[in-house]
Amino acid sequence: MKTEVSSDAPAQTIRCRYAIIGSGIAGLWTALHLPQQDAIAIITKSAVRESSTQYAQGGIAVALPPSDSPELHEQDTLEAGAGLCDKPAVEVLTQEGPQVVEELISYGAVFDREDGHLAYGREAAHGISRIVHAHGDSTGEEVERTAYDAVREAPNITIYQETAAAELLVADGECVGVEAIAVPGGEVTRFIADVTLVATGGVGSLYKYSTNPPVATADGIALAYRVGAALEDLEFIQFHPTALADEGYPKFLISEAVRGEGGKLLNADGEQFMSRYHPRAEMAPRDVVARAVYSEMLKAANNQVYLDFRPLGTQRMRERFPGILDELHQRGFIPEQQPVPITPVAHYMMGGIATDLHGQTDIGRLFACGECASYGVHGANRLASNSLLDGLVFGKRSAAAMAKIQPLSETLQEQAVACKQNHILAAPADLKPQIQQLMWKQVGIIRDGDGLDRAQAQLEEWSKQIAVSPSPALAELEAANMCQVGMLMAAAALHRTESRGAHYRTDFPDTNKAWRKHVIVHRSPAGDLAVSDRPVDASTTD
Ligand code: FAD
Ligand code: SIN
Repeated sequence: MKTEVSSDAPAQTIRCRYAIIGSGIAGLWTALHLPQQDAIAIITKSAVRESSTQYAQGGIAVALPPSDSPELHEQDTLEAGAGLCDKPAVEVLTQEGPQVVEELISYGAVFDREDGHLAYGREAAHGISRIVHAHGDSTGEEVERTAYDAVREAPNITIYQETAAAELLVADGECVGVEAIAVPGGEVTRFIADVTLVATGGVGSLYKYSTNPPVATADGIALAYRVGAALEDLEFIQFHPTALADEGYPKFLISEAVRGEGGKLLNADGEQFMSRYHPRAEMAPRDVVARAVYSEMLKAANNQVYLDFRPLGTQRMRERFPGILDELHQRGFIPEQQPVPITPVAHYMMGGIATDLHGQTDIGRLFACGECASYGVHGANRLASNSLLDGLVFGKRSAAAMAKIQPLSETLQEQAVACKQNHILAAPADLKPQIQQLMWKQVGIIRDGDGLDRAQAQLEEWSKQIAVSPSPALAELEAANMCQVGMLMAAAALHRTESRGAHYRTDFPDTNKAWRKHVIVHRSPAGDLAVSDRPVDASTTD
């Protein structure tokens, strides 16, 4: 087995064919599909497995059941996306999904079975049970383990743990690699690459309450923005309706699959309220359930809403959700006997770095994949369990496109070496909790123009503290990225004067046909924030 280089490697320049930033499913799966004779560097800011992927519970939505089809999966995805999904992207996801999940199984992923056949779970807004899962409720751990085991066996892939990407390197308008800092220590390593992939995951840590691990600080989105890449749909942040309402951080997720198995939401009076909000009750789209829970919390004297596991029966609860039950017991909750207090929290970024259907951004040699990317597949509200599938399908596609990129010319290589040093941005680390509080209050589950204006002004004020630092601490680098991406999210949310999917504004509560378009933000050559839009792609790939 090869050696993994850790943070105590000396500051240096490393030449590779591919630099991949992030070691969740998007980064690892892409690496596995690149030509195995080429040098690949995976750069990851914590331990390899520390990612949202590792914590995924419900499973992977895929049209594998005999009663299912990619067309039915596509229909559910489009419906949940509230008119904002690009149809060709959804077709790619649902049609290529079955093959890529079979491939993951061939790599050694073990999914739960019943009578020898794959067992399929149900989650909100799915017309049928189509979600494969592992160890009941530990799907992410199994997916990450499988991909990591395979990467470890590949002699051409080197993983740089505790190494945080800090700035992308650009020469002649093309991305020629990435500069990263050691964590802790701050020594700078320069990775010069023919192709760079951003696979840094989500933005949950911009919020005070989130299911995401602390690494989810929007770094890749900030890096791509700073080199001029277009970003889209940043106003669409998904709030998961059922995180455990205790003091823990991040918030412990209680999978939507619990409701899929019959779990019920109860308000403080013990009333099942969901049918008042949507005909599909507990199985309504996630944004609808999250807002319903939030509104019942506001009405309750004790601010509490509960998830009742008891309709499942103790045996089913234990066989289907052993990890969740263990965690709840450890935290002093006994779902077999009593409903558990839950709360909606930030969970998933629908938008991100704009790419084509092969992960190519609008900057040459720069690709993006997974939660940090936006191919237009998730629209205004992602269908449950479509995200791991997105990493698998678009990771494989990105690898195929990346493999076709020519090596750097001699001139570009020289420019990469000569790129300006010491341009890494940082901000005071104590801004992080302030940003989280502000985003939760003003760019949260319910927004309005005044709050978004205030958020933007405050973030702009804080951003004056962003400055170049020769060797910043990780938290300082993250604070700068959070501040910048928070500002972009507020700008996109202000721009969209309607409510749709996960973006709900009290001053524009209705969905407006004229807004069936994606909001795009990018940094103009003069350094200003430019906002534009592009129509939803309703064409078909057939
Ligand atoms: P991640 O898995 O988050 O990986 C990002 C990687 O980038 C990490 O390794 C991180 O350390 C690294 N990174 C970040 N910044 C830097 C930097 N500056 N330098 C270097 N490395 C960096 N989806 C489903 O489909 N089904 C589910 O059941 C499901 N359950 C979920 C449960 C939870 C609790 C959470 C949080 C999410 C869940 N999701 C689920 C969503 C899904 O897990 C994620 O969207 C998906 O795993 C994202 O994969 P990714 O590879 O894009 O990012
Ligand atoms: C869950 O298990 O509820 C999370 C699923 C997802 O985010 O897709």
